[in-house]
Amino acid sequence: MIYRRLLRPLLFRLDPDPAHRAAIAALTHGHRVLRTPAASRDPRLAQQVLGLHFPNPVGLAAGFDKLGTAVAAWPKIGFGFAEIGSVTAYPQPGNPPPRMFRLPADDALINRMGFNNDGSSRTAGRLLVAKRRGRIGEIPLGVNIGKSKITPADQAAGDYVASLEALWPVADYVVVNVSSPNTPGLRDLQESSALAEIVRALQEVNVRRSELEQQPARPILVKIAPDLSDAQADAVVDLALELGIEGMVVCNTTLSRDGLRSDRAITTEVGGLSGRPLAARSTELVRRVSRRGGEALVVIGVGGIFSAEDAWQKITAGASLVQLYTGLVYEGPGLVARICEGLLARVQRAGMTSIADAVGAEN
Ligand SMILES: Cc1cc2nc3c(=O)[nH]c(=O)nc-3n(C[C@H](O)[C@H](O)[C@H](O)COP(=O)(O)O)c2cc1C
Repeated sequence: MIYRRLLRPLLFRLDPDPAHRAAIAALTHGHRVLRTPAASRDPRLAQQVLGLHFPNPVGLAAGFDKLGTAVAAWPKIGFGFAEIGSVTAYPQPGNPPPRMFRLPADDALINRMGFNNDGSSRTAGRLLVAKRRGRIGEIPLGVNIGKSKITPADQAAGDYVASLEALWPVADYVVVNVSSPNTPGLRDLQESSALAEIVRALQEVNVRRSELEQQPARPILVKIAPDLSDAQADAVVDLALELGIEGMVVCNTTLSRDGLRSDRAITTEVGGLSGRPLAARSTELVRRVSRRGGEALVVIGVGGIFSAEDAWQKITAGASLVQLYTGLVYEGPGLVARICEGLLARVQRAGMTSIADAVGAEN
């Protein structure tokens, strides 16, 4: 309530880019005053997934904390895991502003940020310091890697490999982002031979580092676009199974503008659309991927989650974990606790003992 009545109107008076920077700065410096909500640590929401302990299934989606500066705040808000990035091998400024747009009539955002980040080496350095200071480790930390804009598509694998080499020590799991619409040609990497080359190269690094450092290999997941046809999505799942990828993040933002209420002046902005209009397609894709992938693939469901009911739909469609971004912008940080409370109520109502029982229950 405080967020919607007080903070959101203030933040929404700013342009989205500075508003986002203000939110990140407040979380980076203010995490000490936050108290982890009780529901978010209820054992009935905890799961062992990807060989990691998740205190609850609600995570921060990639793109909100691209640099990993606010990592200490995410468990305090109640998140069960957080994904930083996308990080690229080379530092890059991203697209010029304006590059993020609010569509309040649709509970949506359009963005063409273009992977603004300070590169994998600096990000790894910052996270190593955070780790030494005990600021990460309470919840699993995912690292989402993308391709630098200056790297040609046929050298993409090397770019992803450089990022994995740098970030390996701090990543609990790794997401290969081949689905952002804002790097020219990136989504073409979802095609089988290109994706296989990238994943094989990453797996090689993973095995080598794991043996060298005497630590478990990092689970590798692939993040896909909602605009893939069903046949294309099936092909990615089959490839994931063939390569032994641990999971898929379903899904990134969409290029579709179907059914929007907002003014054309905004809906025609170039970029990826996120939020409520993405929810149905995302859930449909979660169901498809989890049915085809079966036990072998962990699905992280993301797209248009604004409530416990939205999260429950993705989980019962087959997502072991869920993530949010746009919901956080519209509903504020209290949304995470509300989703955890609502999920607990649903687990109880369904006569289940744990959220794990709900995964794929409607499949
Ligand atoms: C401003 C903005 C920036 C994003 N940046 C990234 C990114 O760098 N990497 C990525 O994999 N996804 C990125 N995403 C996509 C989100 O992680 C998520 O997949 C998508 O927004 C759908 O979830 P939502 O409806 O809860 O926002 C971004 C989304 C937004 C709104």
